[in-house]
Amino acid sequence: MLNPKSRQLTPHFLWGASTSAYQVEGAWNEGGKGSSVIDLANHTEGVTDFKVCSDHYHRYKEDVKLFAELGLKTYRFSIAWTRIFPNGRGEINKEGIAFYDSLINELLSYGIEPFVTLYHFDLPQALAEQGGWGNRETIDAFVEYARIVFSHFGDRVKFWLTINEQNMMILHGNALGTQDTSLADPMKALYQENHHMLLAQAQVIKLCRQVLPNAKIGPAPNIVSIYPASSHPEDILAANNYYAIRNWLYLDMTVFGRYNTTAWHFLKCRGWTPKIEKGDMEILANAMPNFIAFNYYTSQTVARSSGEEVEKGHTGDQHLTVGESGFYTASRNNHLRVNEFGWEVDPIGFRTTLREIYDRYQLPLVITENGLGAFDKLVTDEQGNPTVEDDYRIDFLRLHIEQMLLAIEEGVEVFGFCPWSAIDLVSTHQGCSKRYGFIYVNRDEFDIKDLARYRKKSFYWYQKLINTDAKAL
Ligand code: BG6
Repeated sequence: MLNPKSRQLTPHFLWGASTSAYQVEGAWNEGGKGSSVIDLANHTEGVTDFKVCSDHYHRYKEDVKLFAELGLKTYRFSIAWTRIFPNGRGEINKEGIAFYDSLINELLSYGIEPFVTLYHFDLPQALAEQGGWGNRETIDAFVEYARIVFSHFGDRVKFWLTINEQNMMILHGNALGTQDTSLADPMKALYQENHHMLLAQAQVIKLCRQVLPNAKIGPAPNIVSIYPASSHPEDILAANNYYAIRNWLYLDMTVFGRYNTTAWHFLKCRGWTPKIEKGDMEILANAMPNFIAFNYYTSQTVARSSGEEVEKGHTGDQHLTVGESGFYTASRNNHLRVNEFGWEVDPIGFRTTLREIYDRYQLPLVITENGLGAFDKLVTDEQGNPTVEDDYRIDFLRLHIEQMLLAIEEGVEVFGFCPWSAIDLVSTHQGCSKRYGFIYVNRDEFDIKDLARYRKKSFYWYQKLINTDAKAL
């Protein structure tokens, strides 16, 4: 029996925590920032928008001080493309550069390694109006944006992520506010956009490795284990289909530069194959990431699809499966409990996912999101300080970290773990009452209150875990 507490982590293991610009910064139209598709998307009724969020833009110094107290070795955050290029390309916004300069310097002054995502769902609206990712010119705009970001921050940032959850933007763009719903054949258009994003990513990886040879760069998809609903061979085939379409399509393209056979066959059957121009496959084949980052919240289960059942259509939640008639249909795993939002909690599935990714690609791994969204309740501790008794979050993280340590002991190379989220922020479509952070932000959906920061019980737990390099799990 493996003992998760006995294994050795790599020296300087990156215990961290994550956020994304549009979910934490606020100041959506300040500091010269342009609008992104998220700023202008239709918001879910009854929950807050992304205009103020946690007001990190104005309070980042206070936040970074708390991150340092928490003991973070790394902080994963995203740069808002529209703070650097308000129109997606063209004129650079100096205030945007200054903001991230200052944030990065602040982190480094506490010895916290910045881990930077270039693009986390917030495509500049100006580019969207010119066809978004459907227009090949957006590829050039992304490469130019990356070039500027690398040249300004590359002297201090050693870890880069290209695109957050590209697979979720394709499979669940409606839940994330990233999908143009006016398109005539949205799915065909989406797989064309997907192809362009993959090309953009490949060029940015290549660029990074050329101009910042000491830095490291990788993709950040959402990858999960997929179970067949039963041992019926057709259920197993359905799980195999979903693996190829949901997971491997994205990583095979990033690492090997090729569409896998099953996913390509699926696209052909649907009439959704993208137009591939001369030279595209060479670009894709010639970019090699240094590592693979991935986000993991829940595993998924699918069953065979006769092709005749009526799929329920989009669930409006990127972590719940939407079936593809004839290929797989969404199912449940009765062995797993679900969280308050219907997501199955599966720490062993996390370990399986780590093993599967590592065995398939043989690249070092880093977890860039894992965590539990919950309706936290503010209480007062014995010293009279406001706090949250979030034992449920501690349990969730403990179980997942335990499985990660076991995977490491089994030989999987993992160099960092960044839970979602460092601090409370606004969820993609369920507002700010669904909280993830180690630090509570004092606001409600529509009452901004004083936005004060309070340490939750999980803050002290994670602090101890980091201080002891997980010996105190
Ligand atoms: C991931 C995203 O899909 O899941 C994050 O990268 C997101 O941006 C996280 O916040 C949790 O999902 P949600 O919908 O609860 O915010």
